Amino acid sequence: MEWAERYELGVGRMDDTHREFVDHYNALAAATPERFFECFDAFYAHTVAHFDQEDRWMVATNFPECHHAEHERVLAVMREVRQRVEQGDAFLGRRLVEELHPWFDQHVDTMDAALAYYLKEIGFDTETCSVPAGRKTACDSGHVEGGCGCALSA
Ligand SMILES: [Fe+2]
Ligand SMILES: [Fe+2]
Repeated sequence: MEWAERYELGVGRMDDTHREFVDHYNALAAATPERFFECFDAFYAHTVAHFDQEDRWMVATNFPECHHAEHERVLAVMREVRQRVEQGDAFLGRRLVEELHPWFDQHVDTMDAALAYYLKEIGFDTETCSVPAGRKTACDSGHVEGGCGCALSA
């Protein structure tokens, strides 16, 4: 997977994390059978932290839940596959790696793009995880203008 300009969403911390995601992904895709589990494990740990970071920003800004739910869904699959890889089923692990590339493209284009747009819009500070005083975090209906990026909001 090559880093592409389309992955650049303009929120520094998010872009850095996504760059790391691509690096981990590539290390895993190129891993020898002996190192596959180790790389899978590192990739999984990074993904937990990656999603957790976005989830914290979403909680802090009252962002709609569907993005968090999507993270949970993916982590549940990864956890299960991680266990199978640990037991020696690398095939399933390799299959998941293949699936995760189109998943990442689509997730960045939709949910992460919507979150990044929203965070920039409200002036969210990712360093302090806070919104400037007096700024509204979500509209009264609980929905974000332009949608939250999930299929239901399209
Ligand atoms: Fe992300
Ligand atoms: Fe995300």
